[in-house]
Amino acid sequence: MADIRFDGKVAIVTGAGGGLGRQHALELGRRGAKVVVNDLGAALDGSGGSSAAADQVVAEIKAAGGEAIADGGSVADDAGAANLIKRALDGFGRIDVLIANAGILRDKSFGKMEVADFEAVVDVHLMGTVKPLRAAWGVMREQQYGRVVVTTSSTGLYGNFGQANYGAAKLSLVGLMNTLRIEGERDNIRVNAICPVAATRMTEHVLPPAMAERLKPEYVTPGVVYLASEDAPNGVILTAAAGAFAVARLYETEGAYLGEGGLSAEEVRDNWSRIADPEGQQAYAAGQEQLQTFLRKVMGV
Ligand code: NAI
Repeated sequence: MADIRFDGKVAIVTGAGGGLGRQHALELGRRGAKVVVNDLGAALDGSGGSSAAADQVVAEIKAAGGEAIADGGSVADDAGAANLIKRALDGFGRIDVLIANAGILRDKSFGKMEVADFEAVVDVHLMGTVKPLRAAWGVMREQQYGRVVVTTSSTGLYGNFGQANYGAAKLSLVGLMNTLRIEGERDNIRVNAICPVAATRMTEHVLPPAMAERLKPEYVTPGVVYLASEDAPNGVILTAAAGAFAVARLYETEGAYLGEGGLSAEEVRDNWSRIADPEGQQAYAAGQEQLQTFLRKVMGV
C-alpha cells in the first residue's frame, strides 16, 4: 500500500507547542501537510501563556522543509478558536485535519476540588475541542472532506484517583465523537479518538523514569497520523503507548426482560446476575441500535 501522505492538505494541531501535540505536528509536516501549530504556551494548570512554544515548532517544521504557521491563542476562548480557524483559512485556504490535543490538569480528590478547577478543565478539553471544531465543521462539509482526532484518556474511560474533572472532560469527547461520527459521514468527515499514554510534563510526576524512557510521545503519533489520514476508520477509540496500539469499546450486556407486571426494585436486584451477564454482550454503532435491542426483547421485533 502507498505511504500515508498529506500533500495539499492543511492540518491544525492544538496544544502543539510541546509533548504529544508537537510530535503530531512535526510528523504531519514531514508527510507534506501544511500545519497550523496552535499553543497557548500555558503552564500545566492552564495559567499564563506565550506563543514562543508554537513559534519554535513552526521553526522546526520549516527547517525540515515543511510549511507551517503558529497560533498562540486559547482554544477554550471564543475569539481564540475563531482566530485559529481564520488563520488556517487565511494562511492555507482549507482545513482537512483537526487534531484537538490541547489540555491542562488540575488534579485533586473530588472532596477538595473547587468547582472552578472542574470548570477550567472541562473548558479546555471539551469546549477547547468543540469551539475550533464547530468553526471548522462548515468548512469541512463544504470541502466534502475532514478528518478529526479528539484526545481522550484512560482516566475518562476507566477513572483515576484525583482526576474527576479531567475524567469527566475526557470521556465527554468520546460522547462528542459518537454523534459527530454519524453526522459527519455523509460529508466524508471522520471523527476518531486517540487515548495516549506518554512521558510528557503532564505525566512526569506519575511515571517512573525507566518506564518514561519507553513511553516517548513520538510512539503515539503514528496512530494519530493514521486516524488523520484518508483511509482512517470512523468513530474508533485508539489506545496507544510505547508503540503498542489497541481499540477500546463500550459494551452492553444482552440483559434481561423482566416484564411489566409487578416490576420492582427487588426484581432488578434478584435478576442482577442475568442483567450483568457478559455472555452475548455487544458494542452498538448508534443509540438507535440499543433501542432495537430493547424492542426485540419486549416485542420480539
Ligand atoms: P502537555 O502539557 O505537554 O501538552 C498540552 C499542551 O496544550 C501544552 O503545550 C499547553 O500549552 C497546551 N494548552 C493548554 N491549554 C491550552 C489552550 N487553552 N489553548 C491552546 N493550547 C493549550 O501534555 P501532553 O501529555 O502532551 O498532552 C496532550 C494531550 O494528551 C492532552 O489533551 C492530554 O490530556 C492528553 N493525554 C495525555 C496523556 C499522557 O500520558 N501524556 C494521557 C492521556 C491523555
